[in-house]
Amino acid sequence: MVLVVGCGSAALILVDMNAANCYIRRDVFCFSAISIKYLHQILENLFSLRLLWVREGLMLVETFMTKFLRYQNQRYLTFDDVTVNKLARGNQEREYLLYVHIPFCEELCPYCSFNRYKFQEDRARRYFAALRREIKLYSERDFRCTGVYVGGGTPTVLPEELAQTLQLIRESFPVREVSVETNPNHLTDEVVTILRQAGVNRLSVGVQSFDDDLLKAMERYHKYGSGAEIEANIKHYKGSFDTLNVDMIFNFPSQSLESLQRDLEILKGMPADQVTFYPLMVSTVTEKIIRKTLGKVDYRREKIYYQEIFKQLEADYQPGSAWCFSRQKAMIDEYIVDYDEYLGVGSGSFSYLNGKIMANTFSVEEYCEKLEKDLPAVAFCKDFSLFERMRYDFMIKLFGTSIDMAAIRRRYGNFFADALWKELLLFKGLGALKEDGNRLSLTKKGYYYWVIMMREFFIGVNNFRDICRNQVKGGE
Ligand SMILES: C[S@@+](CC[C@H](N)C(=O)[O-])C[C@H]1O[C@@H](n2cnc3c(N)ncnc32)[C@H](O)[C@@H]1O
Ligand code: SF4
Repeated sequence: MVLVVGCGSAALILVDMNAANCYIRRDVFCFSAISIKYLHQILENLFSLRLLWVREGLMLVETFMTKFLRYQNQRYLTFDDVTVNKLARGNQEREYLLYVHIPFCEELCPYCSFNRYKFQEDRARRYFAALRREIKLYSERDFRCTGVYVGGGTPTVLPEELAQTLQLIRESFPVREVSVETNPNHLTDEVVTILRQAGVNRLSVGVQSFDDDLLKAMERYHKYGSGAEIEANIKHYKGSFDTLNVDMIFNFPSQSLESLQRDLEILKGMPADQVTFYPLMVSTVTEKIIRKTLGKVDYRREKIYYQEIFKQLEADYQPGSAWCFSRQKAMIDEYIVDYDEYLGVGSGSFSYLNGKIMANTFSVEEYCEKLEKDLPAVAFCKDFSLFERMRYDFMIKLFGTSIDMAAIRRRYGNFFADALWKELLLFKGLGALKEDGNRLSLTKKGYYYWVIMMREFFIGVNNFRDICRNQVKGGE
């Protein structure tokens, strides 16, 4: 007997009840008229009666999601190469986040696909000057940017240049909050003072792990310090900013559960206001490279590690997104969640404006040349259809743990529920979502599904970044 139990956009899962195993077909589209309650019951029964062969290491729903999303994102995240002559214009009625990208690092980590190049002072100074020209151009285009997020790379490679850039931003936009990323070796009195004077409210420090062996495998130990040094430094600078965030990575190939548990113990005893625990998200190319040197990325282990993180942090921290945990209501944990639209400046930055995703050139050289002539640096564009915009909102807002359905109805009318009925039905059926009045929220079970959704989304973005960076002449 074959029973249809659920489907994604163009896929369905068929369960062969007699053989008590399960297989997946992607090319057929069909959906049973089973009500949400009935579907939920069936899934629960299938799990509890062990009709699905789910034992540790074979997690059917999760494995299916990973494979399906990887396939779907390959098509969904394709961009057109464009030559843009006119800068986008904002809408004074809306609030935007300004994302500023600084693509230089003192040491390049092998797992990272962000747009980043080895730091050279001359190039970086020329880059900051070009960046300020781009900010000036956008300041005349009706963008009301109330939040600023400076990411990298390592934004603090030249703190004075960063401060000068932040000053220009404050003069140009009605900024309320500024968040900056940094590396642990820049947690010094000098840098912290400059950042505070520049009005930085949130500092995010990339720690990844406190385990020295892991830091060595990540090629960070030598430049960014040992686990004990990083821990002491973070404790020392507690209270210097409204929010001190610590970035961590889990499911790194050589990371054991015991090592993760030691990291969690340290985090619980340390005064960080916020912890962002990213699952390792490597592009397809990087995954192949690190398989040879560091080992295979095992997504089946990821769930166990995530559950451990959730269990350990739950008592002291509130989830602000599926992978960001805050001690109090902290600011700009995930700007793509908090702001509907964002404007990106700098080489390799992304903007999301009026349903379009745009990316600037990934070449620092080309970026500087364009801006020195006051020309836009946008090189790639993807125009989302109405359905794709709604699906993007569905994914991103729920990543921030809940959706205000009244706000969604104001934006899309009833189209949202009509267009996304399959996704809503499926995730409700899986017990991932709960409704409370106008709010649709993640359940405990749903948190991990959203880790998978976002991990696959960012792997898709990383694949796109890899393609763009490969096109950069001479690798810069
Ligand atoms: C892009 S870095 C920029 C700030 C700084 N350079 C650093 O290393 O923290 C910000 C954070 O992204 C996360 N990250 C980078 N590459 C990642 C990857 N492949 N998978 C998961 N997280 C990653 C790390 O936690 C890192 O701290
Ligand atoms: S993780 Fe941070 S320091 Fe490492 S390469 Fe990426 S941006 Fe640079």
